[in-house]
Amino acid sequence: SGLNTTIVAAGKLYFGTATDNTELSNTAYEKQLNNTADFGQITPGNSMKWDAIEPERGAYTYAEGDVIANLAKENGQKLRCHNLVWYNQLPSWVSGGGFDNATLIDIMKNHITNEVTHYKGRCYAWDVVNEALSDAGDGSYRSNVFYETIGEAYIPIAFAAAAAADPDAKLYYNDYSIESAGAKSTAAQNVVQMIQAYGAKIDGVGLQSHFIVGETPSTTAQVANMKAFTALGVDVAITELDIRVATPETTADETQQAIDYASTVKACMQVDKCIGITIWDWTDKYSWVPSTFSGEGAALPWDSNLDKKVPVYDAILSAEGES
Ligand code: G3I
Repeated sequence: SGLNTTIVAAGKLYFGTATDNTELSNTAYEKQLNNTADFGQITPGNSMKWDAIEPERGAYTYAEGDVIANLAKENGQKLRCHNLVWYNQLPSWVSGGGFDNATLIDIMKNHITNEVTHYKGRCYAWDVVNEALSDAGDGSYRSNVFYETIGEAYIPIAFAAAAAADPDAKLYYNDYSIESAGAKSTAAQNVVQMIQAYGAKIDGVGLQSHFIVGETPSTTAQVANMKAFTALGVDVAITELDIRVATPETTADETQQAIDYASTVKACMQVDKCIGITIWDWTDKYSWVPSTFSGEGAALPWDSNLDKKVPVYDAILSAEGES
């Protein structure tokens, strides 16, 4: 029994992982990625982002995204599609374009309509808007070209365009530092209600869950926070879980990391509408962490040799059995 089969037996939809195109040339990597006992769902780490899909206005390049979508199909894995509207990995023709309100709305709707239509029927879920809230953590909106030009309405406009292009895909707002109570989580709840007030459909909130060993919110805190979202009539999913630490990781760190992974998994198990869990790639070899946080890493349940960290893996597995 693996991470996916066990969580599915306990009533969730999937346990999954992010992956990326360049990693697929590693056959040992791909073998484990394809292991559906552990991974019933995959997310492309980069190849469905705006800069990958529409690097020039109106010129769509789907080859790399298709590789991941096809892999999911061959393996029988669910696909979380990531993402449509984000300030980062946004081509400069959009971010620096100097477009007026109506033009930028058109550009955004065209991008969404084209991409969601291309993957229609393939995506269990779409991260429609990613990280719209400021890093200040005070609940304010992030200043980006969409917000500055269109105002908060860019968010419901994006959701409405995605819903029109694929009515069956679950539409998510996805962000980080919204995994326990606080101004940013409250603001994300307000985003959900704002989308609903505009009459647009939102199905879920992605709790990215990029955590730090020893600083992970408690299960109780995560459960209460998830319920604040599900009370608004949406699902939640853990979308990008990883738990980083100063490297090299010690045995004591790994023991704490196992406890911390279990905290989040237990929280999801305790909330009916927490539908699944995705780790942000499965091996430290391909984690985004070391290139962003110098001196930190070792954030995933498999090490950089692709070997399972047995205490971490087992802690996730046993937490999946609890509810
Ligand atoms: O594609 C170029 C390549 O042509 C170039 O040679 C190389 C040199 O640096 O860079 C490549 O682009 C990199 C890209 O990943 C693809 O590998 C970018 O530099 C690098 O910044 C980018 O990092 C990604 C990061 O998002 C960017 O913000 C990570 O792989 C990806 O895991 C990470 O994922 C995000 C989620 O989308 C949203 N939530 C946070 C999460 C972690 O940052």
